[in-house]
Amino acid sequence: METQSTIIPEAVSTAAAGARRAELFSPYMQFAKLRIRARYTLASSGVRPLTMKRLLELAGGGPRLEELALNSAGDYGYVPLQAALARKAGVKEENIVASTGCSLANHLAFAALLEPGDEALIEAPAYELMESTARFLGARIRHFERRHEEGYRLDPDRIAQAMSPATRLIVITNLHNPSGALAEPEALREIGRRARRQGTYVLVDEVYLEMDFDRRQPSAFTLGDNFIVTSSLTKAYGLGGLRCGWIVAPAEMARRMWRLDDLFAATAVHVGEQLSVVALEHLEAIAADSRALLERNRRLLDRFLDAHPELETLRPPMGTIVFPRLRGAADAGPWLERLRSEYEVSLGPGAYFGAPAHFRLGIGGETTELEAGLERLGKALEKSSRHKAEG
Ligand SMILES: Cc1ncc(COP(=O)(O)O)c(C=O)c1O
Repeated sequence: METQSTIIPEAVSTAAAGARRAELFSPYMQFAKLRIRARYTLASSGVRPLTMKRLLELAGGGPRLEELALNSAGDYGYVPLQAALARKAGVKEENIVASTGCSLANHLAFAALLEPGDEALIEAPAYELMESTARFLGARIRHFERRHEEGYRLDPDRIAQAMSPATRLIVITNLHNPSGALAEPEALREIGRRARRQGTYVLVDEVYLEMDFDRRQPSAFTLGDNFIVTSSLTKAYGLGGLRCGWIVAPAEMARRMWRLDDLFAATAVHVGEQLSVVALEHLEAIAADSRALLERNRRLLDRFLDAHPELETLRPPMGTIVFPRLRGAADAGPWLERLRSEYEVSLGPGAYFGAPAHFRLGIGGETTELEAGLERLGKALEKSSRHKAEG
């Protein structure tokens, strides 16, 4: 696939073609901020947010909030957080760059790796921010396909064919957003091997791999020395508000990212850093809470998908998201609008990911809300099928 974006609507592409950088925006983030909420929100991609009370319960008490320091001692990274993140990722502290959520982690990693005119080779369908961020930094965009018919698996040959001598960075999400597909470590390793031959890095956003609660899958960072990994506590633990994200990178590159971060976040919110340490020290209890929720919710999802053959859906082994295709529709958008206005259910339009016949369904909400939302979604699907049958 060539450079013209199918993911970013025209306004952004126009800006990229020479208009002002300040006019760039993220259509997906606008949706996420302004349009995601409905009475039954099935469009969110993470586990439902924890309250501070629940976080402290799961942490067995935690610190007294009034005793938290407001200001840190300075330096690059808060030492206890660096130590906790390094322990969690199984790497040295010199490999960790703490950041403001996985969003800024991605931005910072891209900024450290991409010079204007470099090429970023991005999966399609993709999390739209990957593309707008690379574009903002002046990169040229190419895509490689992850096909619905192939279970969205990574095909190293297809990726190698899509690379050019200017490809500086390959961008992958694992689990894949939007489909939830789990990447095969062997495929990732092979992609890394081929990229390395021409000095290309592979960035793997593992924010959804946090839902591999038993840690059966290796982090891509262990698969070769040209891998950079990003993640956060947002999706798997309901802790997005802490904005605890990080990059795992080779030490020299990590140092470069810390220096570059002086131009971005400069310093972190220290209260957030301290609460992130609390969360990381009790991550097992928090993960158990998420896991119990997702096990209940996955059973509801399976039952729902079994009953609805009008949806074609890859069922990944873990995670919070699936990406059904609405059979017979080239563009599910108008139907999703009706679903929202008539049934008060929100889903993530596939158009934001470059796949308009699909929608992203998130199962990380409270079980009662998911159950009611799926019931309404089922009614809407049945009504559409009846209409179709009646001609
Ligand atoms: C692939 C991916 N990376 C990063 C993020 C953002 O994560 P955070 O809230 O930690 O910034 C998202 C959120 O939707 C995502 O889907």
